Amino acid sequence: MSRFIDKTVGRRGVYLDYAAATPLDPRVRKEMNKATELFGNPSSFNDSGMVARRRMEESRNIIARFINARSDEIVFTSSGSEANNLAVFGVSDLLLKPGEIITTPIEHSSVLKSLQILGKRSWKITYLKIDGDGLVDLRDLEKNKFRSCACFHNLCQQ
Ligand SMILES: Cc1ncc(COP(=O)(O)O)c(C=O)c1O
Repeated sequence: MSRFIDKTVGRRGVYLDYAAATPLDPRVRKEMNKATELFGNPSSFNDSGMVARRRMEESRNIIARFINARSDEIVFTSSGSEANNLAVFGVSDLLLKPGEIITTPIEHSSVLKSLQILGKRSWKITYLKIDGDGLVDLRDLEKNKFRSCACFHNLCQQ
């Protein structure tokens, strides 16, 4: 929850929709500002490129440690939609033949539309029921006999 002055409507407010956007933590802003002072293409082998590459890899390592992942599992994308597309099509490319994916009807459109495309490519897409609080109906989950499947769900909602 964040208290703020909504400049659009010019009054104080309390922002509750953290599933869609969150205010930037001042510590993150400070690091981002520092990064914007760096100029260089991290894929180039000139001095500025190598400095940018080093900074990028440091960031990747810090994020990986923070979420207990390997640094080669951290992929930077330019948006949430791009990350969702990468996850959906990445999983489908990894598996050699179409399988089953379980999801919910309330995922972001970048997930739902990607899954629709997989549906046309012979993937079985199963949509679990959602209760009045927007949570997965666990009885529906138990009722379905999933053997091997991938699951796309925005976990922050659970
Ligand atoms: C779960 C989820 N995925 C994707 C997006 C889209 O992110 P972007 O606008 O960065 O593409 C949002 C934005 O609200 C989101 O909540």
